[in-house]
Amino acid sequence: MSGGAVTLAGVTAGGVFVSFEGGDGAGKSTQVGLLAAWLRAHGREVVVTREPGGTPLGQTLRDAVLHGEDMDPRTEALLYAADRAHHVASLVRPALERGAVVVTDRYLDSSVAYQGSGRDLGADEVEQLSLWATGGLLPALTVLLDLDPAVARTRLTGDPDRLERAGDEFHRRTRQAFLDRAAADEGRWLVLDAARPADDLAGAVRARVASLIGVAA
Ligand code: TYD
Repeated sequence: MSGGAVTLAGVTAGGVFVSFEGGDGAGKSTQVGLLAAWLRAHGREVVVTREPGGTPLGQTLRDAVLHGEDMDPRTEALLYAADRAHHVASLVRPALERGAVVVTDRYLDSSVAYQGSGRDLGADEVEQLSLWATGGLLPALTVLLDLDPAVARTRLTGDPDRLERAGDEFHRRTRQAFLDRAAADEGRWLVLDAARPADDLAGAVRARVASLIGVAA
């Protein structure tokens, strides 16, 4: 395993890895932006990124998986895993190793929820695939913005992509998978009701991140 200086806990010499998870329309990108601004105001280098599509190759894979031809679930899982492998190797791990805070809009837990449970490939197998792809890198903190998929749908604009078209039952399974995973590892997860006002949510996120990086919220 090519671990480098990064530990399994997602914290290395000064670098901290934070992911945001949840259904489409839960407000992840708003919260990512608010957290990044607060961290920068505290003088931290922040790398804001996302999956799929956090790198140029990842953008090609994102187009294929979200807007390309129909594919079977294993192909879908492998494309997300390939995106993640390249993302971690070329962007996330180097940033952590130089001491940055990396804030990503989606990471491995999206694969476990969407492909493992939503597509029924099995949570454990999909997790193993992503751990292999990333050399075992897990975030120090994962924020779950939890929202009823029926409410989330009303927030979405534009043409639905392949995953957004997957149906209500799929999205209910995916939501439950995130909640189950968070309940099983409270040390890594912060679960928030995404129906709360954005400023309240940002405050709750800051409080958790502050304790990770050792500053006042
Ligand atoms: P996202 O970028 O959050 O969508 P948008 O830009 O439309 O807000 O994610 C794209 C979709 O990919 C989303 O429906 C969730 C899905 N996804 C997976 O199924 N597995 C994964 O591993 C990841 C990272 C995303």
